[in-house]
Amino acid sequence: MKKQWWHDKVAYQIYPKSFYDSNGDGIGDLPGIISKLDYLKDLGVDIVWLSPIYKSPLADEGYDIADYYSIDPRFGTMEDMERLIEEAKKRDMYILMDLVVNHCSDEHEWFQKACQDPDGEYGNFFYIEDRKDGGTPCNWRSYFGGPVWEPLPGHPDKQYLHVFHKKQPDLNWENPRVREEVYKNINWWLDKGLGGFRIDAIINIKKKLPFRDYPVDRADGLSGIDHMLAEAEGIGEFLGEMAEKTFRPHNAFTVGEVFNEKPEEIADFIGENGYFSSMFDFAETVYGKSDRGWYDSSAYLNPEEYKSCIFSTQKKIGDTGMISNIIENHDEPRGVSHYICPEDLCDASKKLLAGVYFMLKGLPFIYQGQEIGMENMKFNSIEDVDDVSTLDEYQVALNAGLGEEEAFRRVAAFSRDNARTPMQWTDGKNAGFTEGTPWLRVNPNCSRINVKDQEKNAGSVLSFYKKLTALRKSEEYKETVVYGEFVPYLEQEKNLIGYFREGEKKLLVLANFQKAPREVELPGIVKKVLLNNLEDLTLNDNRIHLDSWQFVTLEI
Ligand code: GLC
Ligand code: CA
Repeated sequence: MKKQWWHDKVAYQIYPKSFYDSNGDGIGDLPGIISKLDYLKDLGVDIVWLSPIYKSPLADEGYDIADYYSIDPRFGTMEDMERLIEEAKKRDMYILMDLVVNHCSDEHEWFQKACQDPDGEYGNFFYIEDRKDGGTPCNWRSYFGGPVWEPLPGHPDKQYLHVFHKKQPDLNWENPRVREEVYKNINWWLDKGLGGFRIDAIINIKKKLPFRDYPVDRADGLSGIDHMLAEAEGIGEFLGEMAEKTFRPHNAFTVGEVFNEKPEEIADFIGENGYFSSMFDFAETVYGKSDRGWYDSSAYLNPEEYKSCIFSTQKKIGDTGMISNIIENHDEPRGVSHYICPEDLCDASKKLLAGVYFMLKGLPFIYQGQEIGMENMKFNSIEDVDDVSTLDEYQVALNAGLGEEEAFRRVAAFSRDNARTPMQWTDGKNAGFTEGTPWLRVNPNCSRINVKDQEKNAGSVLSFYKKLTALRKSEEYKETVVYGEFVPYLEQEKNLIGYFREGEKKLLVLANFQKAPREVELPGIVKKVLLNNLEDLTLNDNRIHLDSWQFVTLEI
């Protein structure tokens, strides 16, 4: 693999609305982020990805952009953003923005102009079709429920396409003017000193045209977009052009939100001349998700399922490129609540999960609060939920015949709001997130789980994350942790996750993903214990005793 500046980094995702509120309005903001840069630096973070902070009506929490060139006043000003980039630089850190260009907001000037004159220049920025006999051009279901077609404001005879919320009209990438505008914006931000972008929902930019129906797959008479996407070809032309005109000349780091790529496409996406630097591994986040909806999906994965996901990705990627590893993000439940069975949730199992994913080959992303082991929220009722996607999935569950309580219980396990509750800085008022009223309820477990306590405690989850980042950065082990080959060890052993990282050194990662202690045979003499999530460790010549949830990394 050709070495790149970002390979040995540690990345961190901030969900700005819930990170830190500096002015008491209950909404996290850019000055708040700036004030926490030292905290992130101390954690060992180099790259910081901000979920969208552009001007937006926040119908999908900023993933609906009304102006790509300005900061939403709720988050701060352009000066704040410039200061953030500068302050990050001083600390050898890089800021990534979220590039949301499959769609914009219906409040964007382009869409407003398209509504004024659908046959004019801006009409062609979107997919606008006539309403023939009141019908729609195709039966696709939007990701947030309901048909993807919505009457065009002011033009009852016309309709526009939105694969997400109706306030997120899809941009027409077939139109070169749209692409030109997108590239102009990307370059404008990169010229400001941005490190790069996380690239949102990008797989949707290529539609299979002309519009047509696909097989109906739910009682609503509609068809999931996946059917169409599986047939859409030629996205590479757009992505290659974008990389050529923007990212490559800036040597920017980009990480794509890519789903359902075919194995033969991996090199196109993240190989040496790939469209992106990296893309996320979503194998474990999509595992167990049902086509019928969240209500029908598994609320958590057992260790064997989790292992099969991460191992299959590691084997599939090999040396083709650098995948980005996560256990959660702003669209998922908390990783510790999804991959650890509720009765097994404890500091040791949280550290085990952290160690297992962090030591994989790839770029580790930490989602805010993950480093202190933040857990899913206990919502009281559906009224507690803000997220559009959860509200839709609740409806899907009701339509499938579930009672209100059952529907709520099932979708709550997946709600995107689980990860969006305010960051838990202290055990005090509003978890130290705001002086005002937080926009989303704080998880009451902040009395138990918060940064302030964990910073003081060498045995905390936070301290363990610091050990993980430190190992990745250590002069001695860096090469192996970053580039070492992934080789499974005792793959068939139930509830054991074992793998080597083989580079200049040979490291063995072992995780006893169960309550029962066990003995594991060692493949060689242990030179050094690099990581251990418990206090003690019993080693014999060729055997190791692993306690409940014990995780170790050994140099062999
Ligand atoms: C991505 C984002 C998600 C958003 C969607 C539409 O999946 O991660 O939060 O709702 O795209 O932009
Ligand atoms: Ca604020």
